[in-house]
Amino acid sequence: GETRVVQSRTSLRAAYAGLPAGTKRVLVPTMGALHDGHAALMRAGRVLAGPGGHVTASIFVNPTQFGANEDLARYPRSLEADVDVCAGEGVDLVFAPNVEGIYRGGDPLVTVDPGAMGTLLEGAVRPGHFRGVLTVVQKLLHLTSADVVLLGEKDYQQLVLVKRMVFDLDLPVEVVGVPTVRADDGLALSSRNAYLSADERHLALTVPHALDVGSGVARSGGTARDVVSAVQSFLDEHDGIVTDYAVVTDPMLGAPPEQGEARLLLAVRIGTTRLLDNIRISIG
Ligand code: PAJ
Repeated sequence: GETRVVQSRTSLRAAYAGLPAGTKRVLVPTMGALHDGHAALMRAGRVLAGPGGHVTASIFVNPTQFGANEDLARYPRSLEADVDVCAGEGVDLVFAPNVEGIYRGGDPLVTVDPGAMGTLLEGAVRPGHFRGVLTVVQKLLHLTSADVVLLGEKDYQQLVLVKRMVFDLDLPVEVVGVPTVRADDGLALSSRNAYLSADERHLALTVPHALDVGSGVARSGGTARDVVSAVQSFLDEHDGIVTDYAVVTDPMLGAPPEQGEARLLLAVRIGTTRLLDNIRISIG
């Protein structure tokens, strides 16, 4: 079918009004500058929706999740190309509101508090970030009446926090995580990779290499601590990379297990660009 593009909440509502009752509604929230990682979410969304279902992709660079010194102003924007990506993946509707369309009265008074998990890891480096993320995700879930929302494992803490929001606030939506899509050389795709110079892009491979180092240590029987120290030393060997954090947690970001499934999460800075990556590892 056709991919429609709507900007206002009124036209969004009108688009949904034509759907048969009980239509399964799938939402893929994004900030645009779409790449193959986003496309994978849409593809998975299309499959989950089935032939009778309906897939909405939202494109909204959400100002409330950016800190004062962050890249809101220079964040890449490419609506026309983005709509082509959505159409290529069989998305039914693109919702691309402007800031006033989402935050009608300016900054919201009432927001979603991410709790202690919102101050860890990314939250420690980016105060207020997850409050902005959860607030806009909740608004988008309501505006679209989504039955299913897809999020990438690339932003693992975001995925876990959305799952916790849905659980803690009894939101009637299923959260589906999609594995990270990587470039051929292993770098996780990210809209922010566009900021990297050729030299920095090369240095960025240290990140997936560090994850390989960590998963190797885990495979050969290392503890969570062994994994972290091997990863940290590996990163420290590379000039031009500053580590924000390198941690092992359980799958829901709690304390690392002595044995079993765990998550290795990294955040580094190369120049002024922050890169995030993570993988599942198995301890013991
Ligand atoms: P954005 O960074 O545009 O990412 C949109 C979705 O794509 C997120 O769920 C993210 O995890 C996923 N994604 C990004 N790169 C990926 C990759 N390489 N492989 C798989 N999935 C990938 O995340 C946001 O936007 C915003 O915080 C948002 C949830 C839209 C709220 O504003």
